[in-house]
Amino acid sequence: MRSIRSFAKARSRLSANHKKILNQENDFLFSANTKLAFEETLRSTNNKILEIGFGEGDSLFEMAVNNPDLNFFGIEVYETGVARTCSKIEESGIKNLKIYLGDVVDLILDKDIETTFDLLLFLFPDPWHKRKHNKRRLLSSHNLKKFRSYLSKKGFIFFRTDWQEYADSVKKICNDQKVEFQDLEKLSLLNQLILTKYQRKGIEAGRSITSLLFK
Ligand SMILES: C[S@@+](CC[C@H](N)C(=O)[O-])C[C@H]1O[C@@H](n2cnc3c(N)ncnc32)[C@H](O)[C@@H]1O
Repeated sequence: MRSIRSFAKARSRLSANHKKILNQENDFLFSANTKLAFEETLRSTNNKILEIGFGEGDSLFEMAVNNPDLNFFGIEVYETGVARTCSKIEESGIKNLKIYLGDVVDLILDKDIETTFDLLLFLFPDPWHKRKHNKRRLLSSHNLKKFRSYLSKKGFIFFRTDWQEYADSVKKICNDQKVEFQDLEKLSLLNQLILTKYQRKGIEAGRSITSLLFK
């Protein structure tokens, strides 16, 4: 049975250039047709950082540019964000950022891939704030357990949200799973995160931001 979707399918209006980059062959973009190749890349690469639901991709791209020794991966279903990020990868020529256009649930939650990450980043995942939609949240108890199973020995999960009730729910899930929260200072990479689109929206709406780091 198909899991409940954690995203609302946005209708993308792609420019000709964006269509081109999504359809041409390259070594930095993967999708359902090249899932096995993506899994193999994940298996054979060390020092991995994965951002799930990177949206416009600005933060992910900047981190990859500034940390050439680390290998960055991004998973996103939003085609426009994927195409924008791919254009930037192509123009800059960076080699340490690979993108998967598709659902993270199909890729690593509904199955087991042999790989681990040093950091899983969730920046402003959809809060699905109506109670009847809470079950669509990416960070549910079941998913969190599975995401944690993909952490390397020194690995962390970083979650940032502007939705207090989502933050409280993740804190409760972590407490139930006996997960200890870590000092944000423990990971200097987090200082490099730049303001994302949804962070800006949250701030403009006067909401406070919660950041949680855990194993
Ligand atoms: C609220 S937006 C936040 C985007 C960005 N991180 C930011 O802070 O601006 C959540 C993003 O997660 C993506 N997303 C949600 N569920 C997903 C899934 N199962 N697989 C891949 N991407 C997903 C959505 O397409 C959307 O772009």
